[in-house]
Amino acid sequence: MKFFIDTANLDQIREAQDLGILDGVTTNPSLMAKEGIKGDENILNHYKTICKIVDGDVSAEVIATDYDGMIKEGEELAALHEQIVVKVPVTKNGIKAIKYLSGKDIRTNCTLIFSQGQALLAAKAGATYVSPFIGRLDDTSTDGVDLIYKIVDMFNNYGIETQVLAASIRHTMHIIQCADAGADVATCPLNAILGLLNHPLTDKGLEQFMADYNKLNS
Ligand code: E4P
Repeated sequence: MKFFIDTANLDQIREAQDLGILDGVTTNPSLMAKEGIKGDENILNHYKTICKIVDGDVSAEVIATDYDGMIKEGEELAALHEQIVVKVPVTKNGIKAIKYLSGKDIRTNCTLIFSQGQALLAAKAGATYVSPFIGRLDDTSTDGVDLIYKIVDMFNNYGIETQVLAASIRHTMHIIQCADAGADVATCPLNAILGLLNHPLTDKGLEQFMADYNKLNS
């Protein structure tokens, strides 16, 4: 499973990159706003900075909701850097835009996926990734991870190459559950990734090793 970090915060992106396990970055307009990035030029420059920090795919979301606007923005974003993947919402215009962009060999990430049907349409249109939002489904008393299982199964049934990018991950256990479900990618907050390291027996064991070493060597 590939690990993406789900943030526009450069310090966190650098920290995940320094760990040596990072495969890419996802952003969205809310994450950009959280970092105070405003104005089209600043937003585009921020994407370019992220591309310099990481080696993998960087999702950059279109703001337009009309078809012409989406393809214009999508082409502009894709021209910024070869690592950019154009993020498009799963609307009627979005599906048409994904079809157009994939026909131009521009990679896309279809976002705001909450059902198998939406994922199937996005895949048919040629999306590189589909992003089911598992945390937001959990928030509505619906099992988000179950949707990952179902989309992975459905894509496997037909040999669909679109990758399942589990998004809206809220905690460390979500990452493990997505790996169990066969997600191709999990995009995660940094603290959820770092949580994978935690185990009290590791802390206790290391403490004991150090204490035994120090008994003889100090
Ligand atoms: C990533 O592609 C999504 O935009 C993001 O994971 C949404 O996460 P949230 O539901 O925590 O806002």
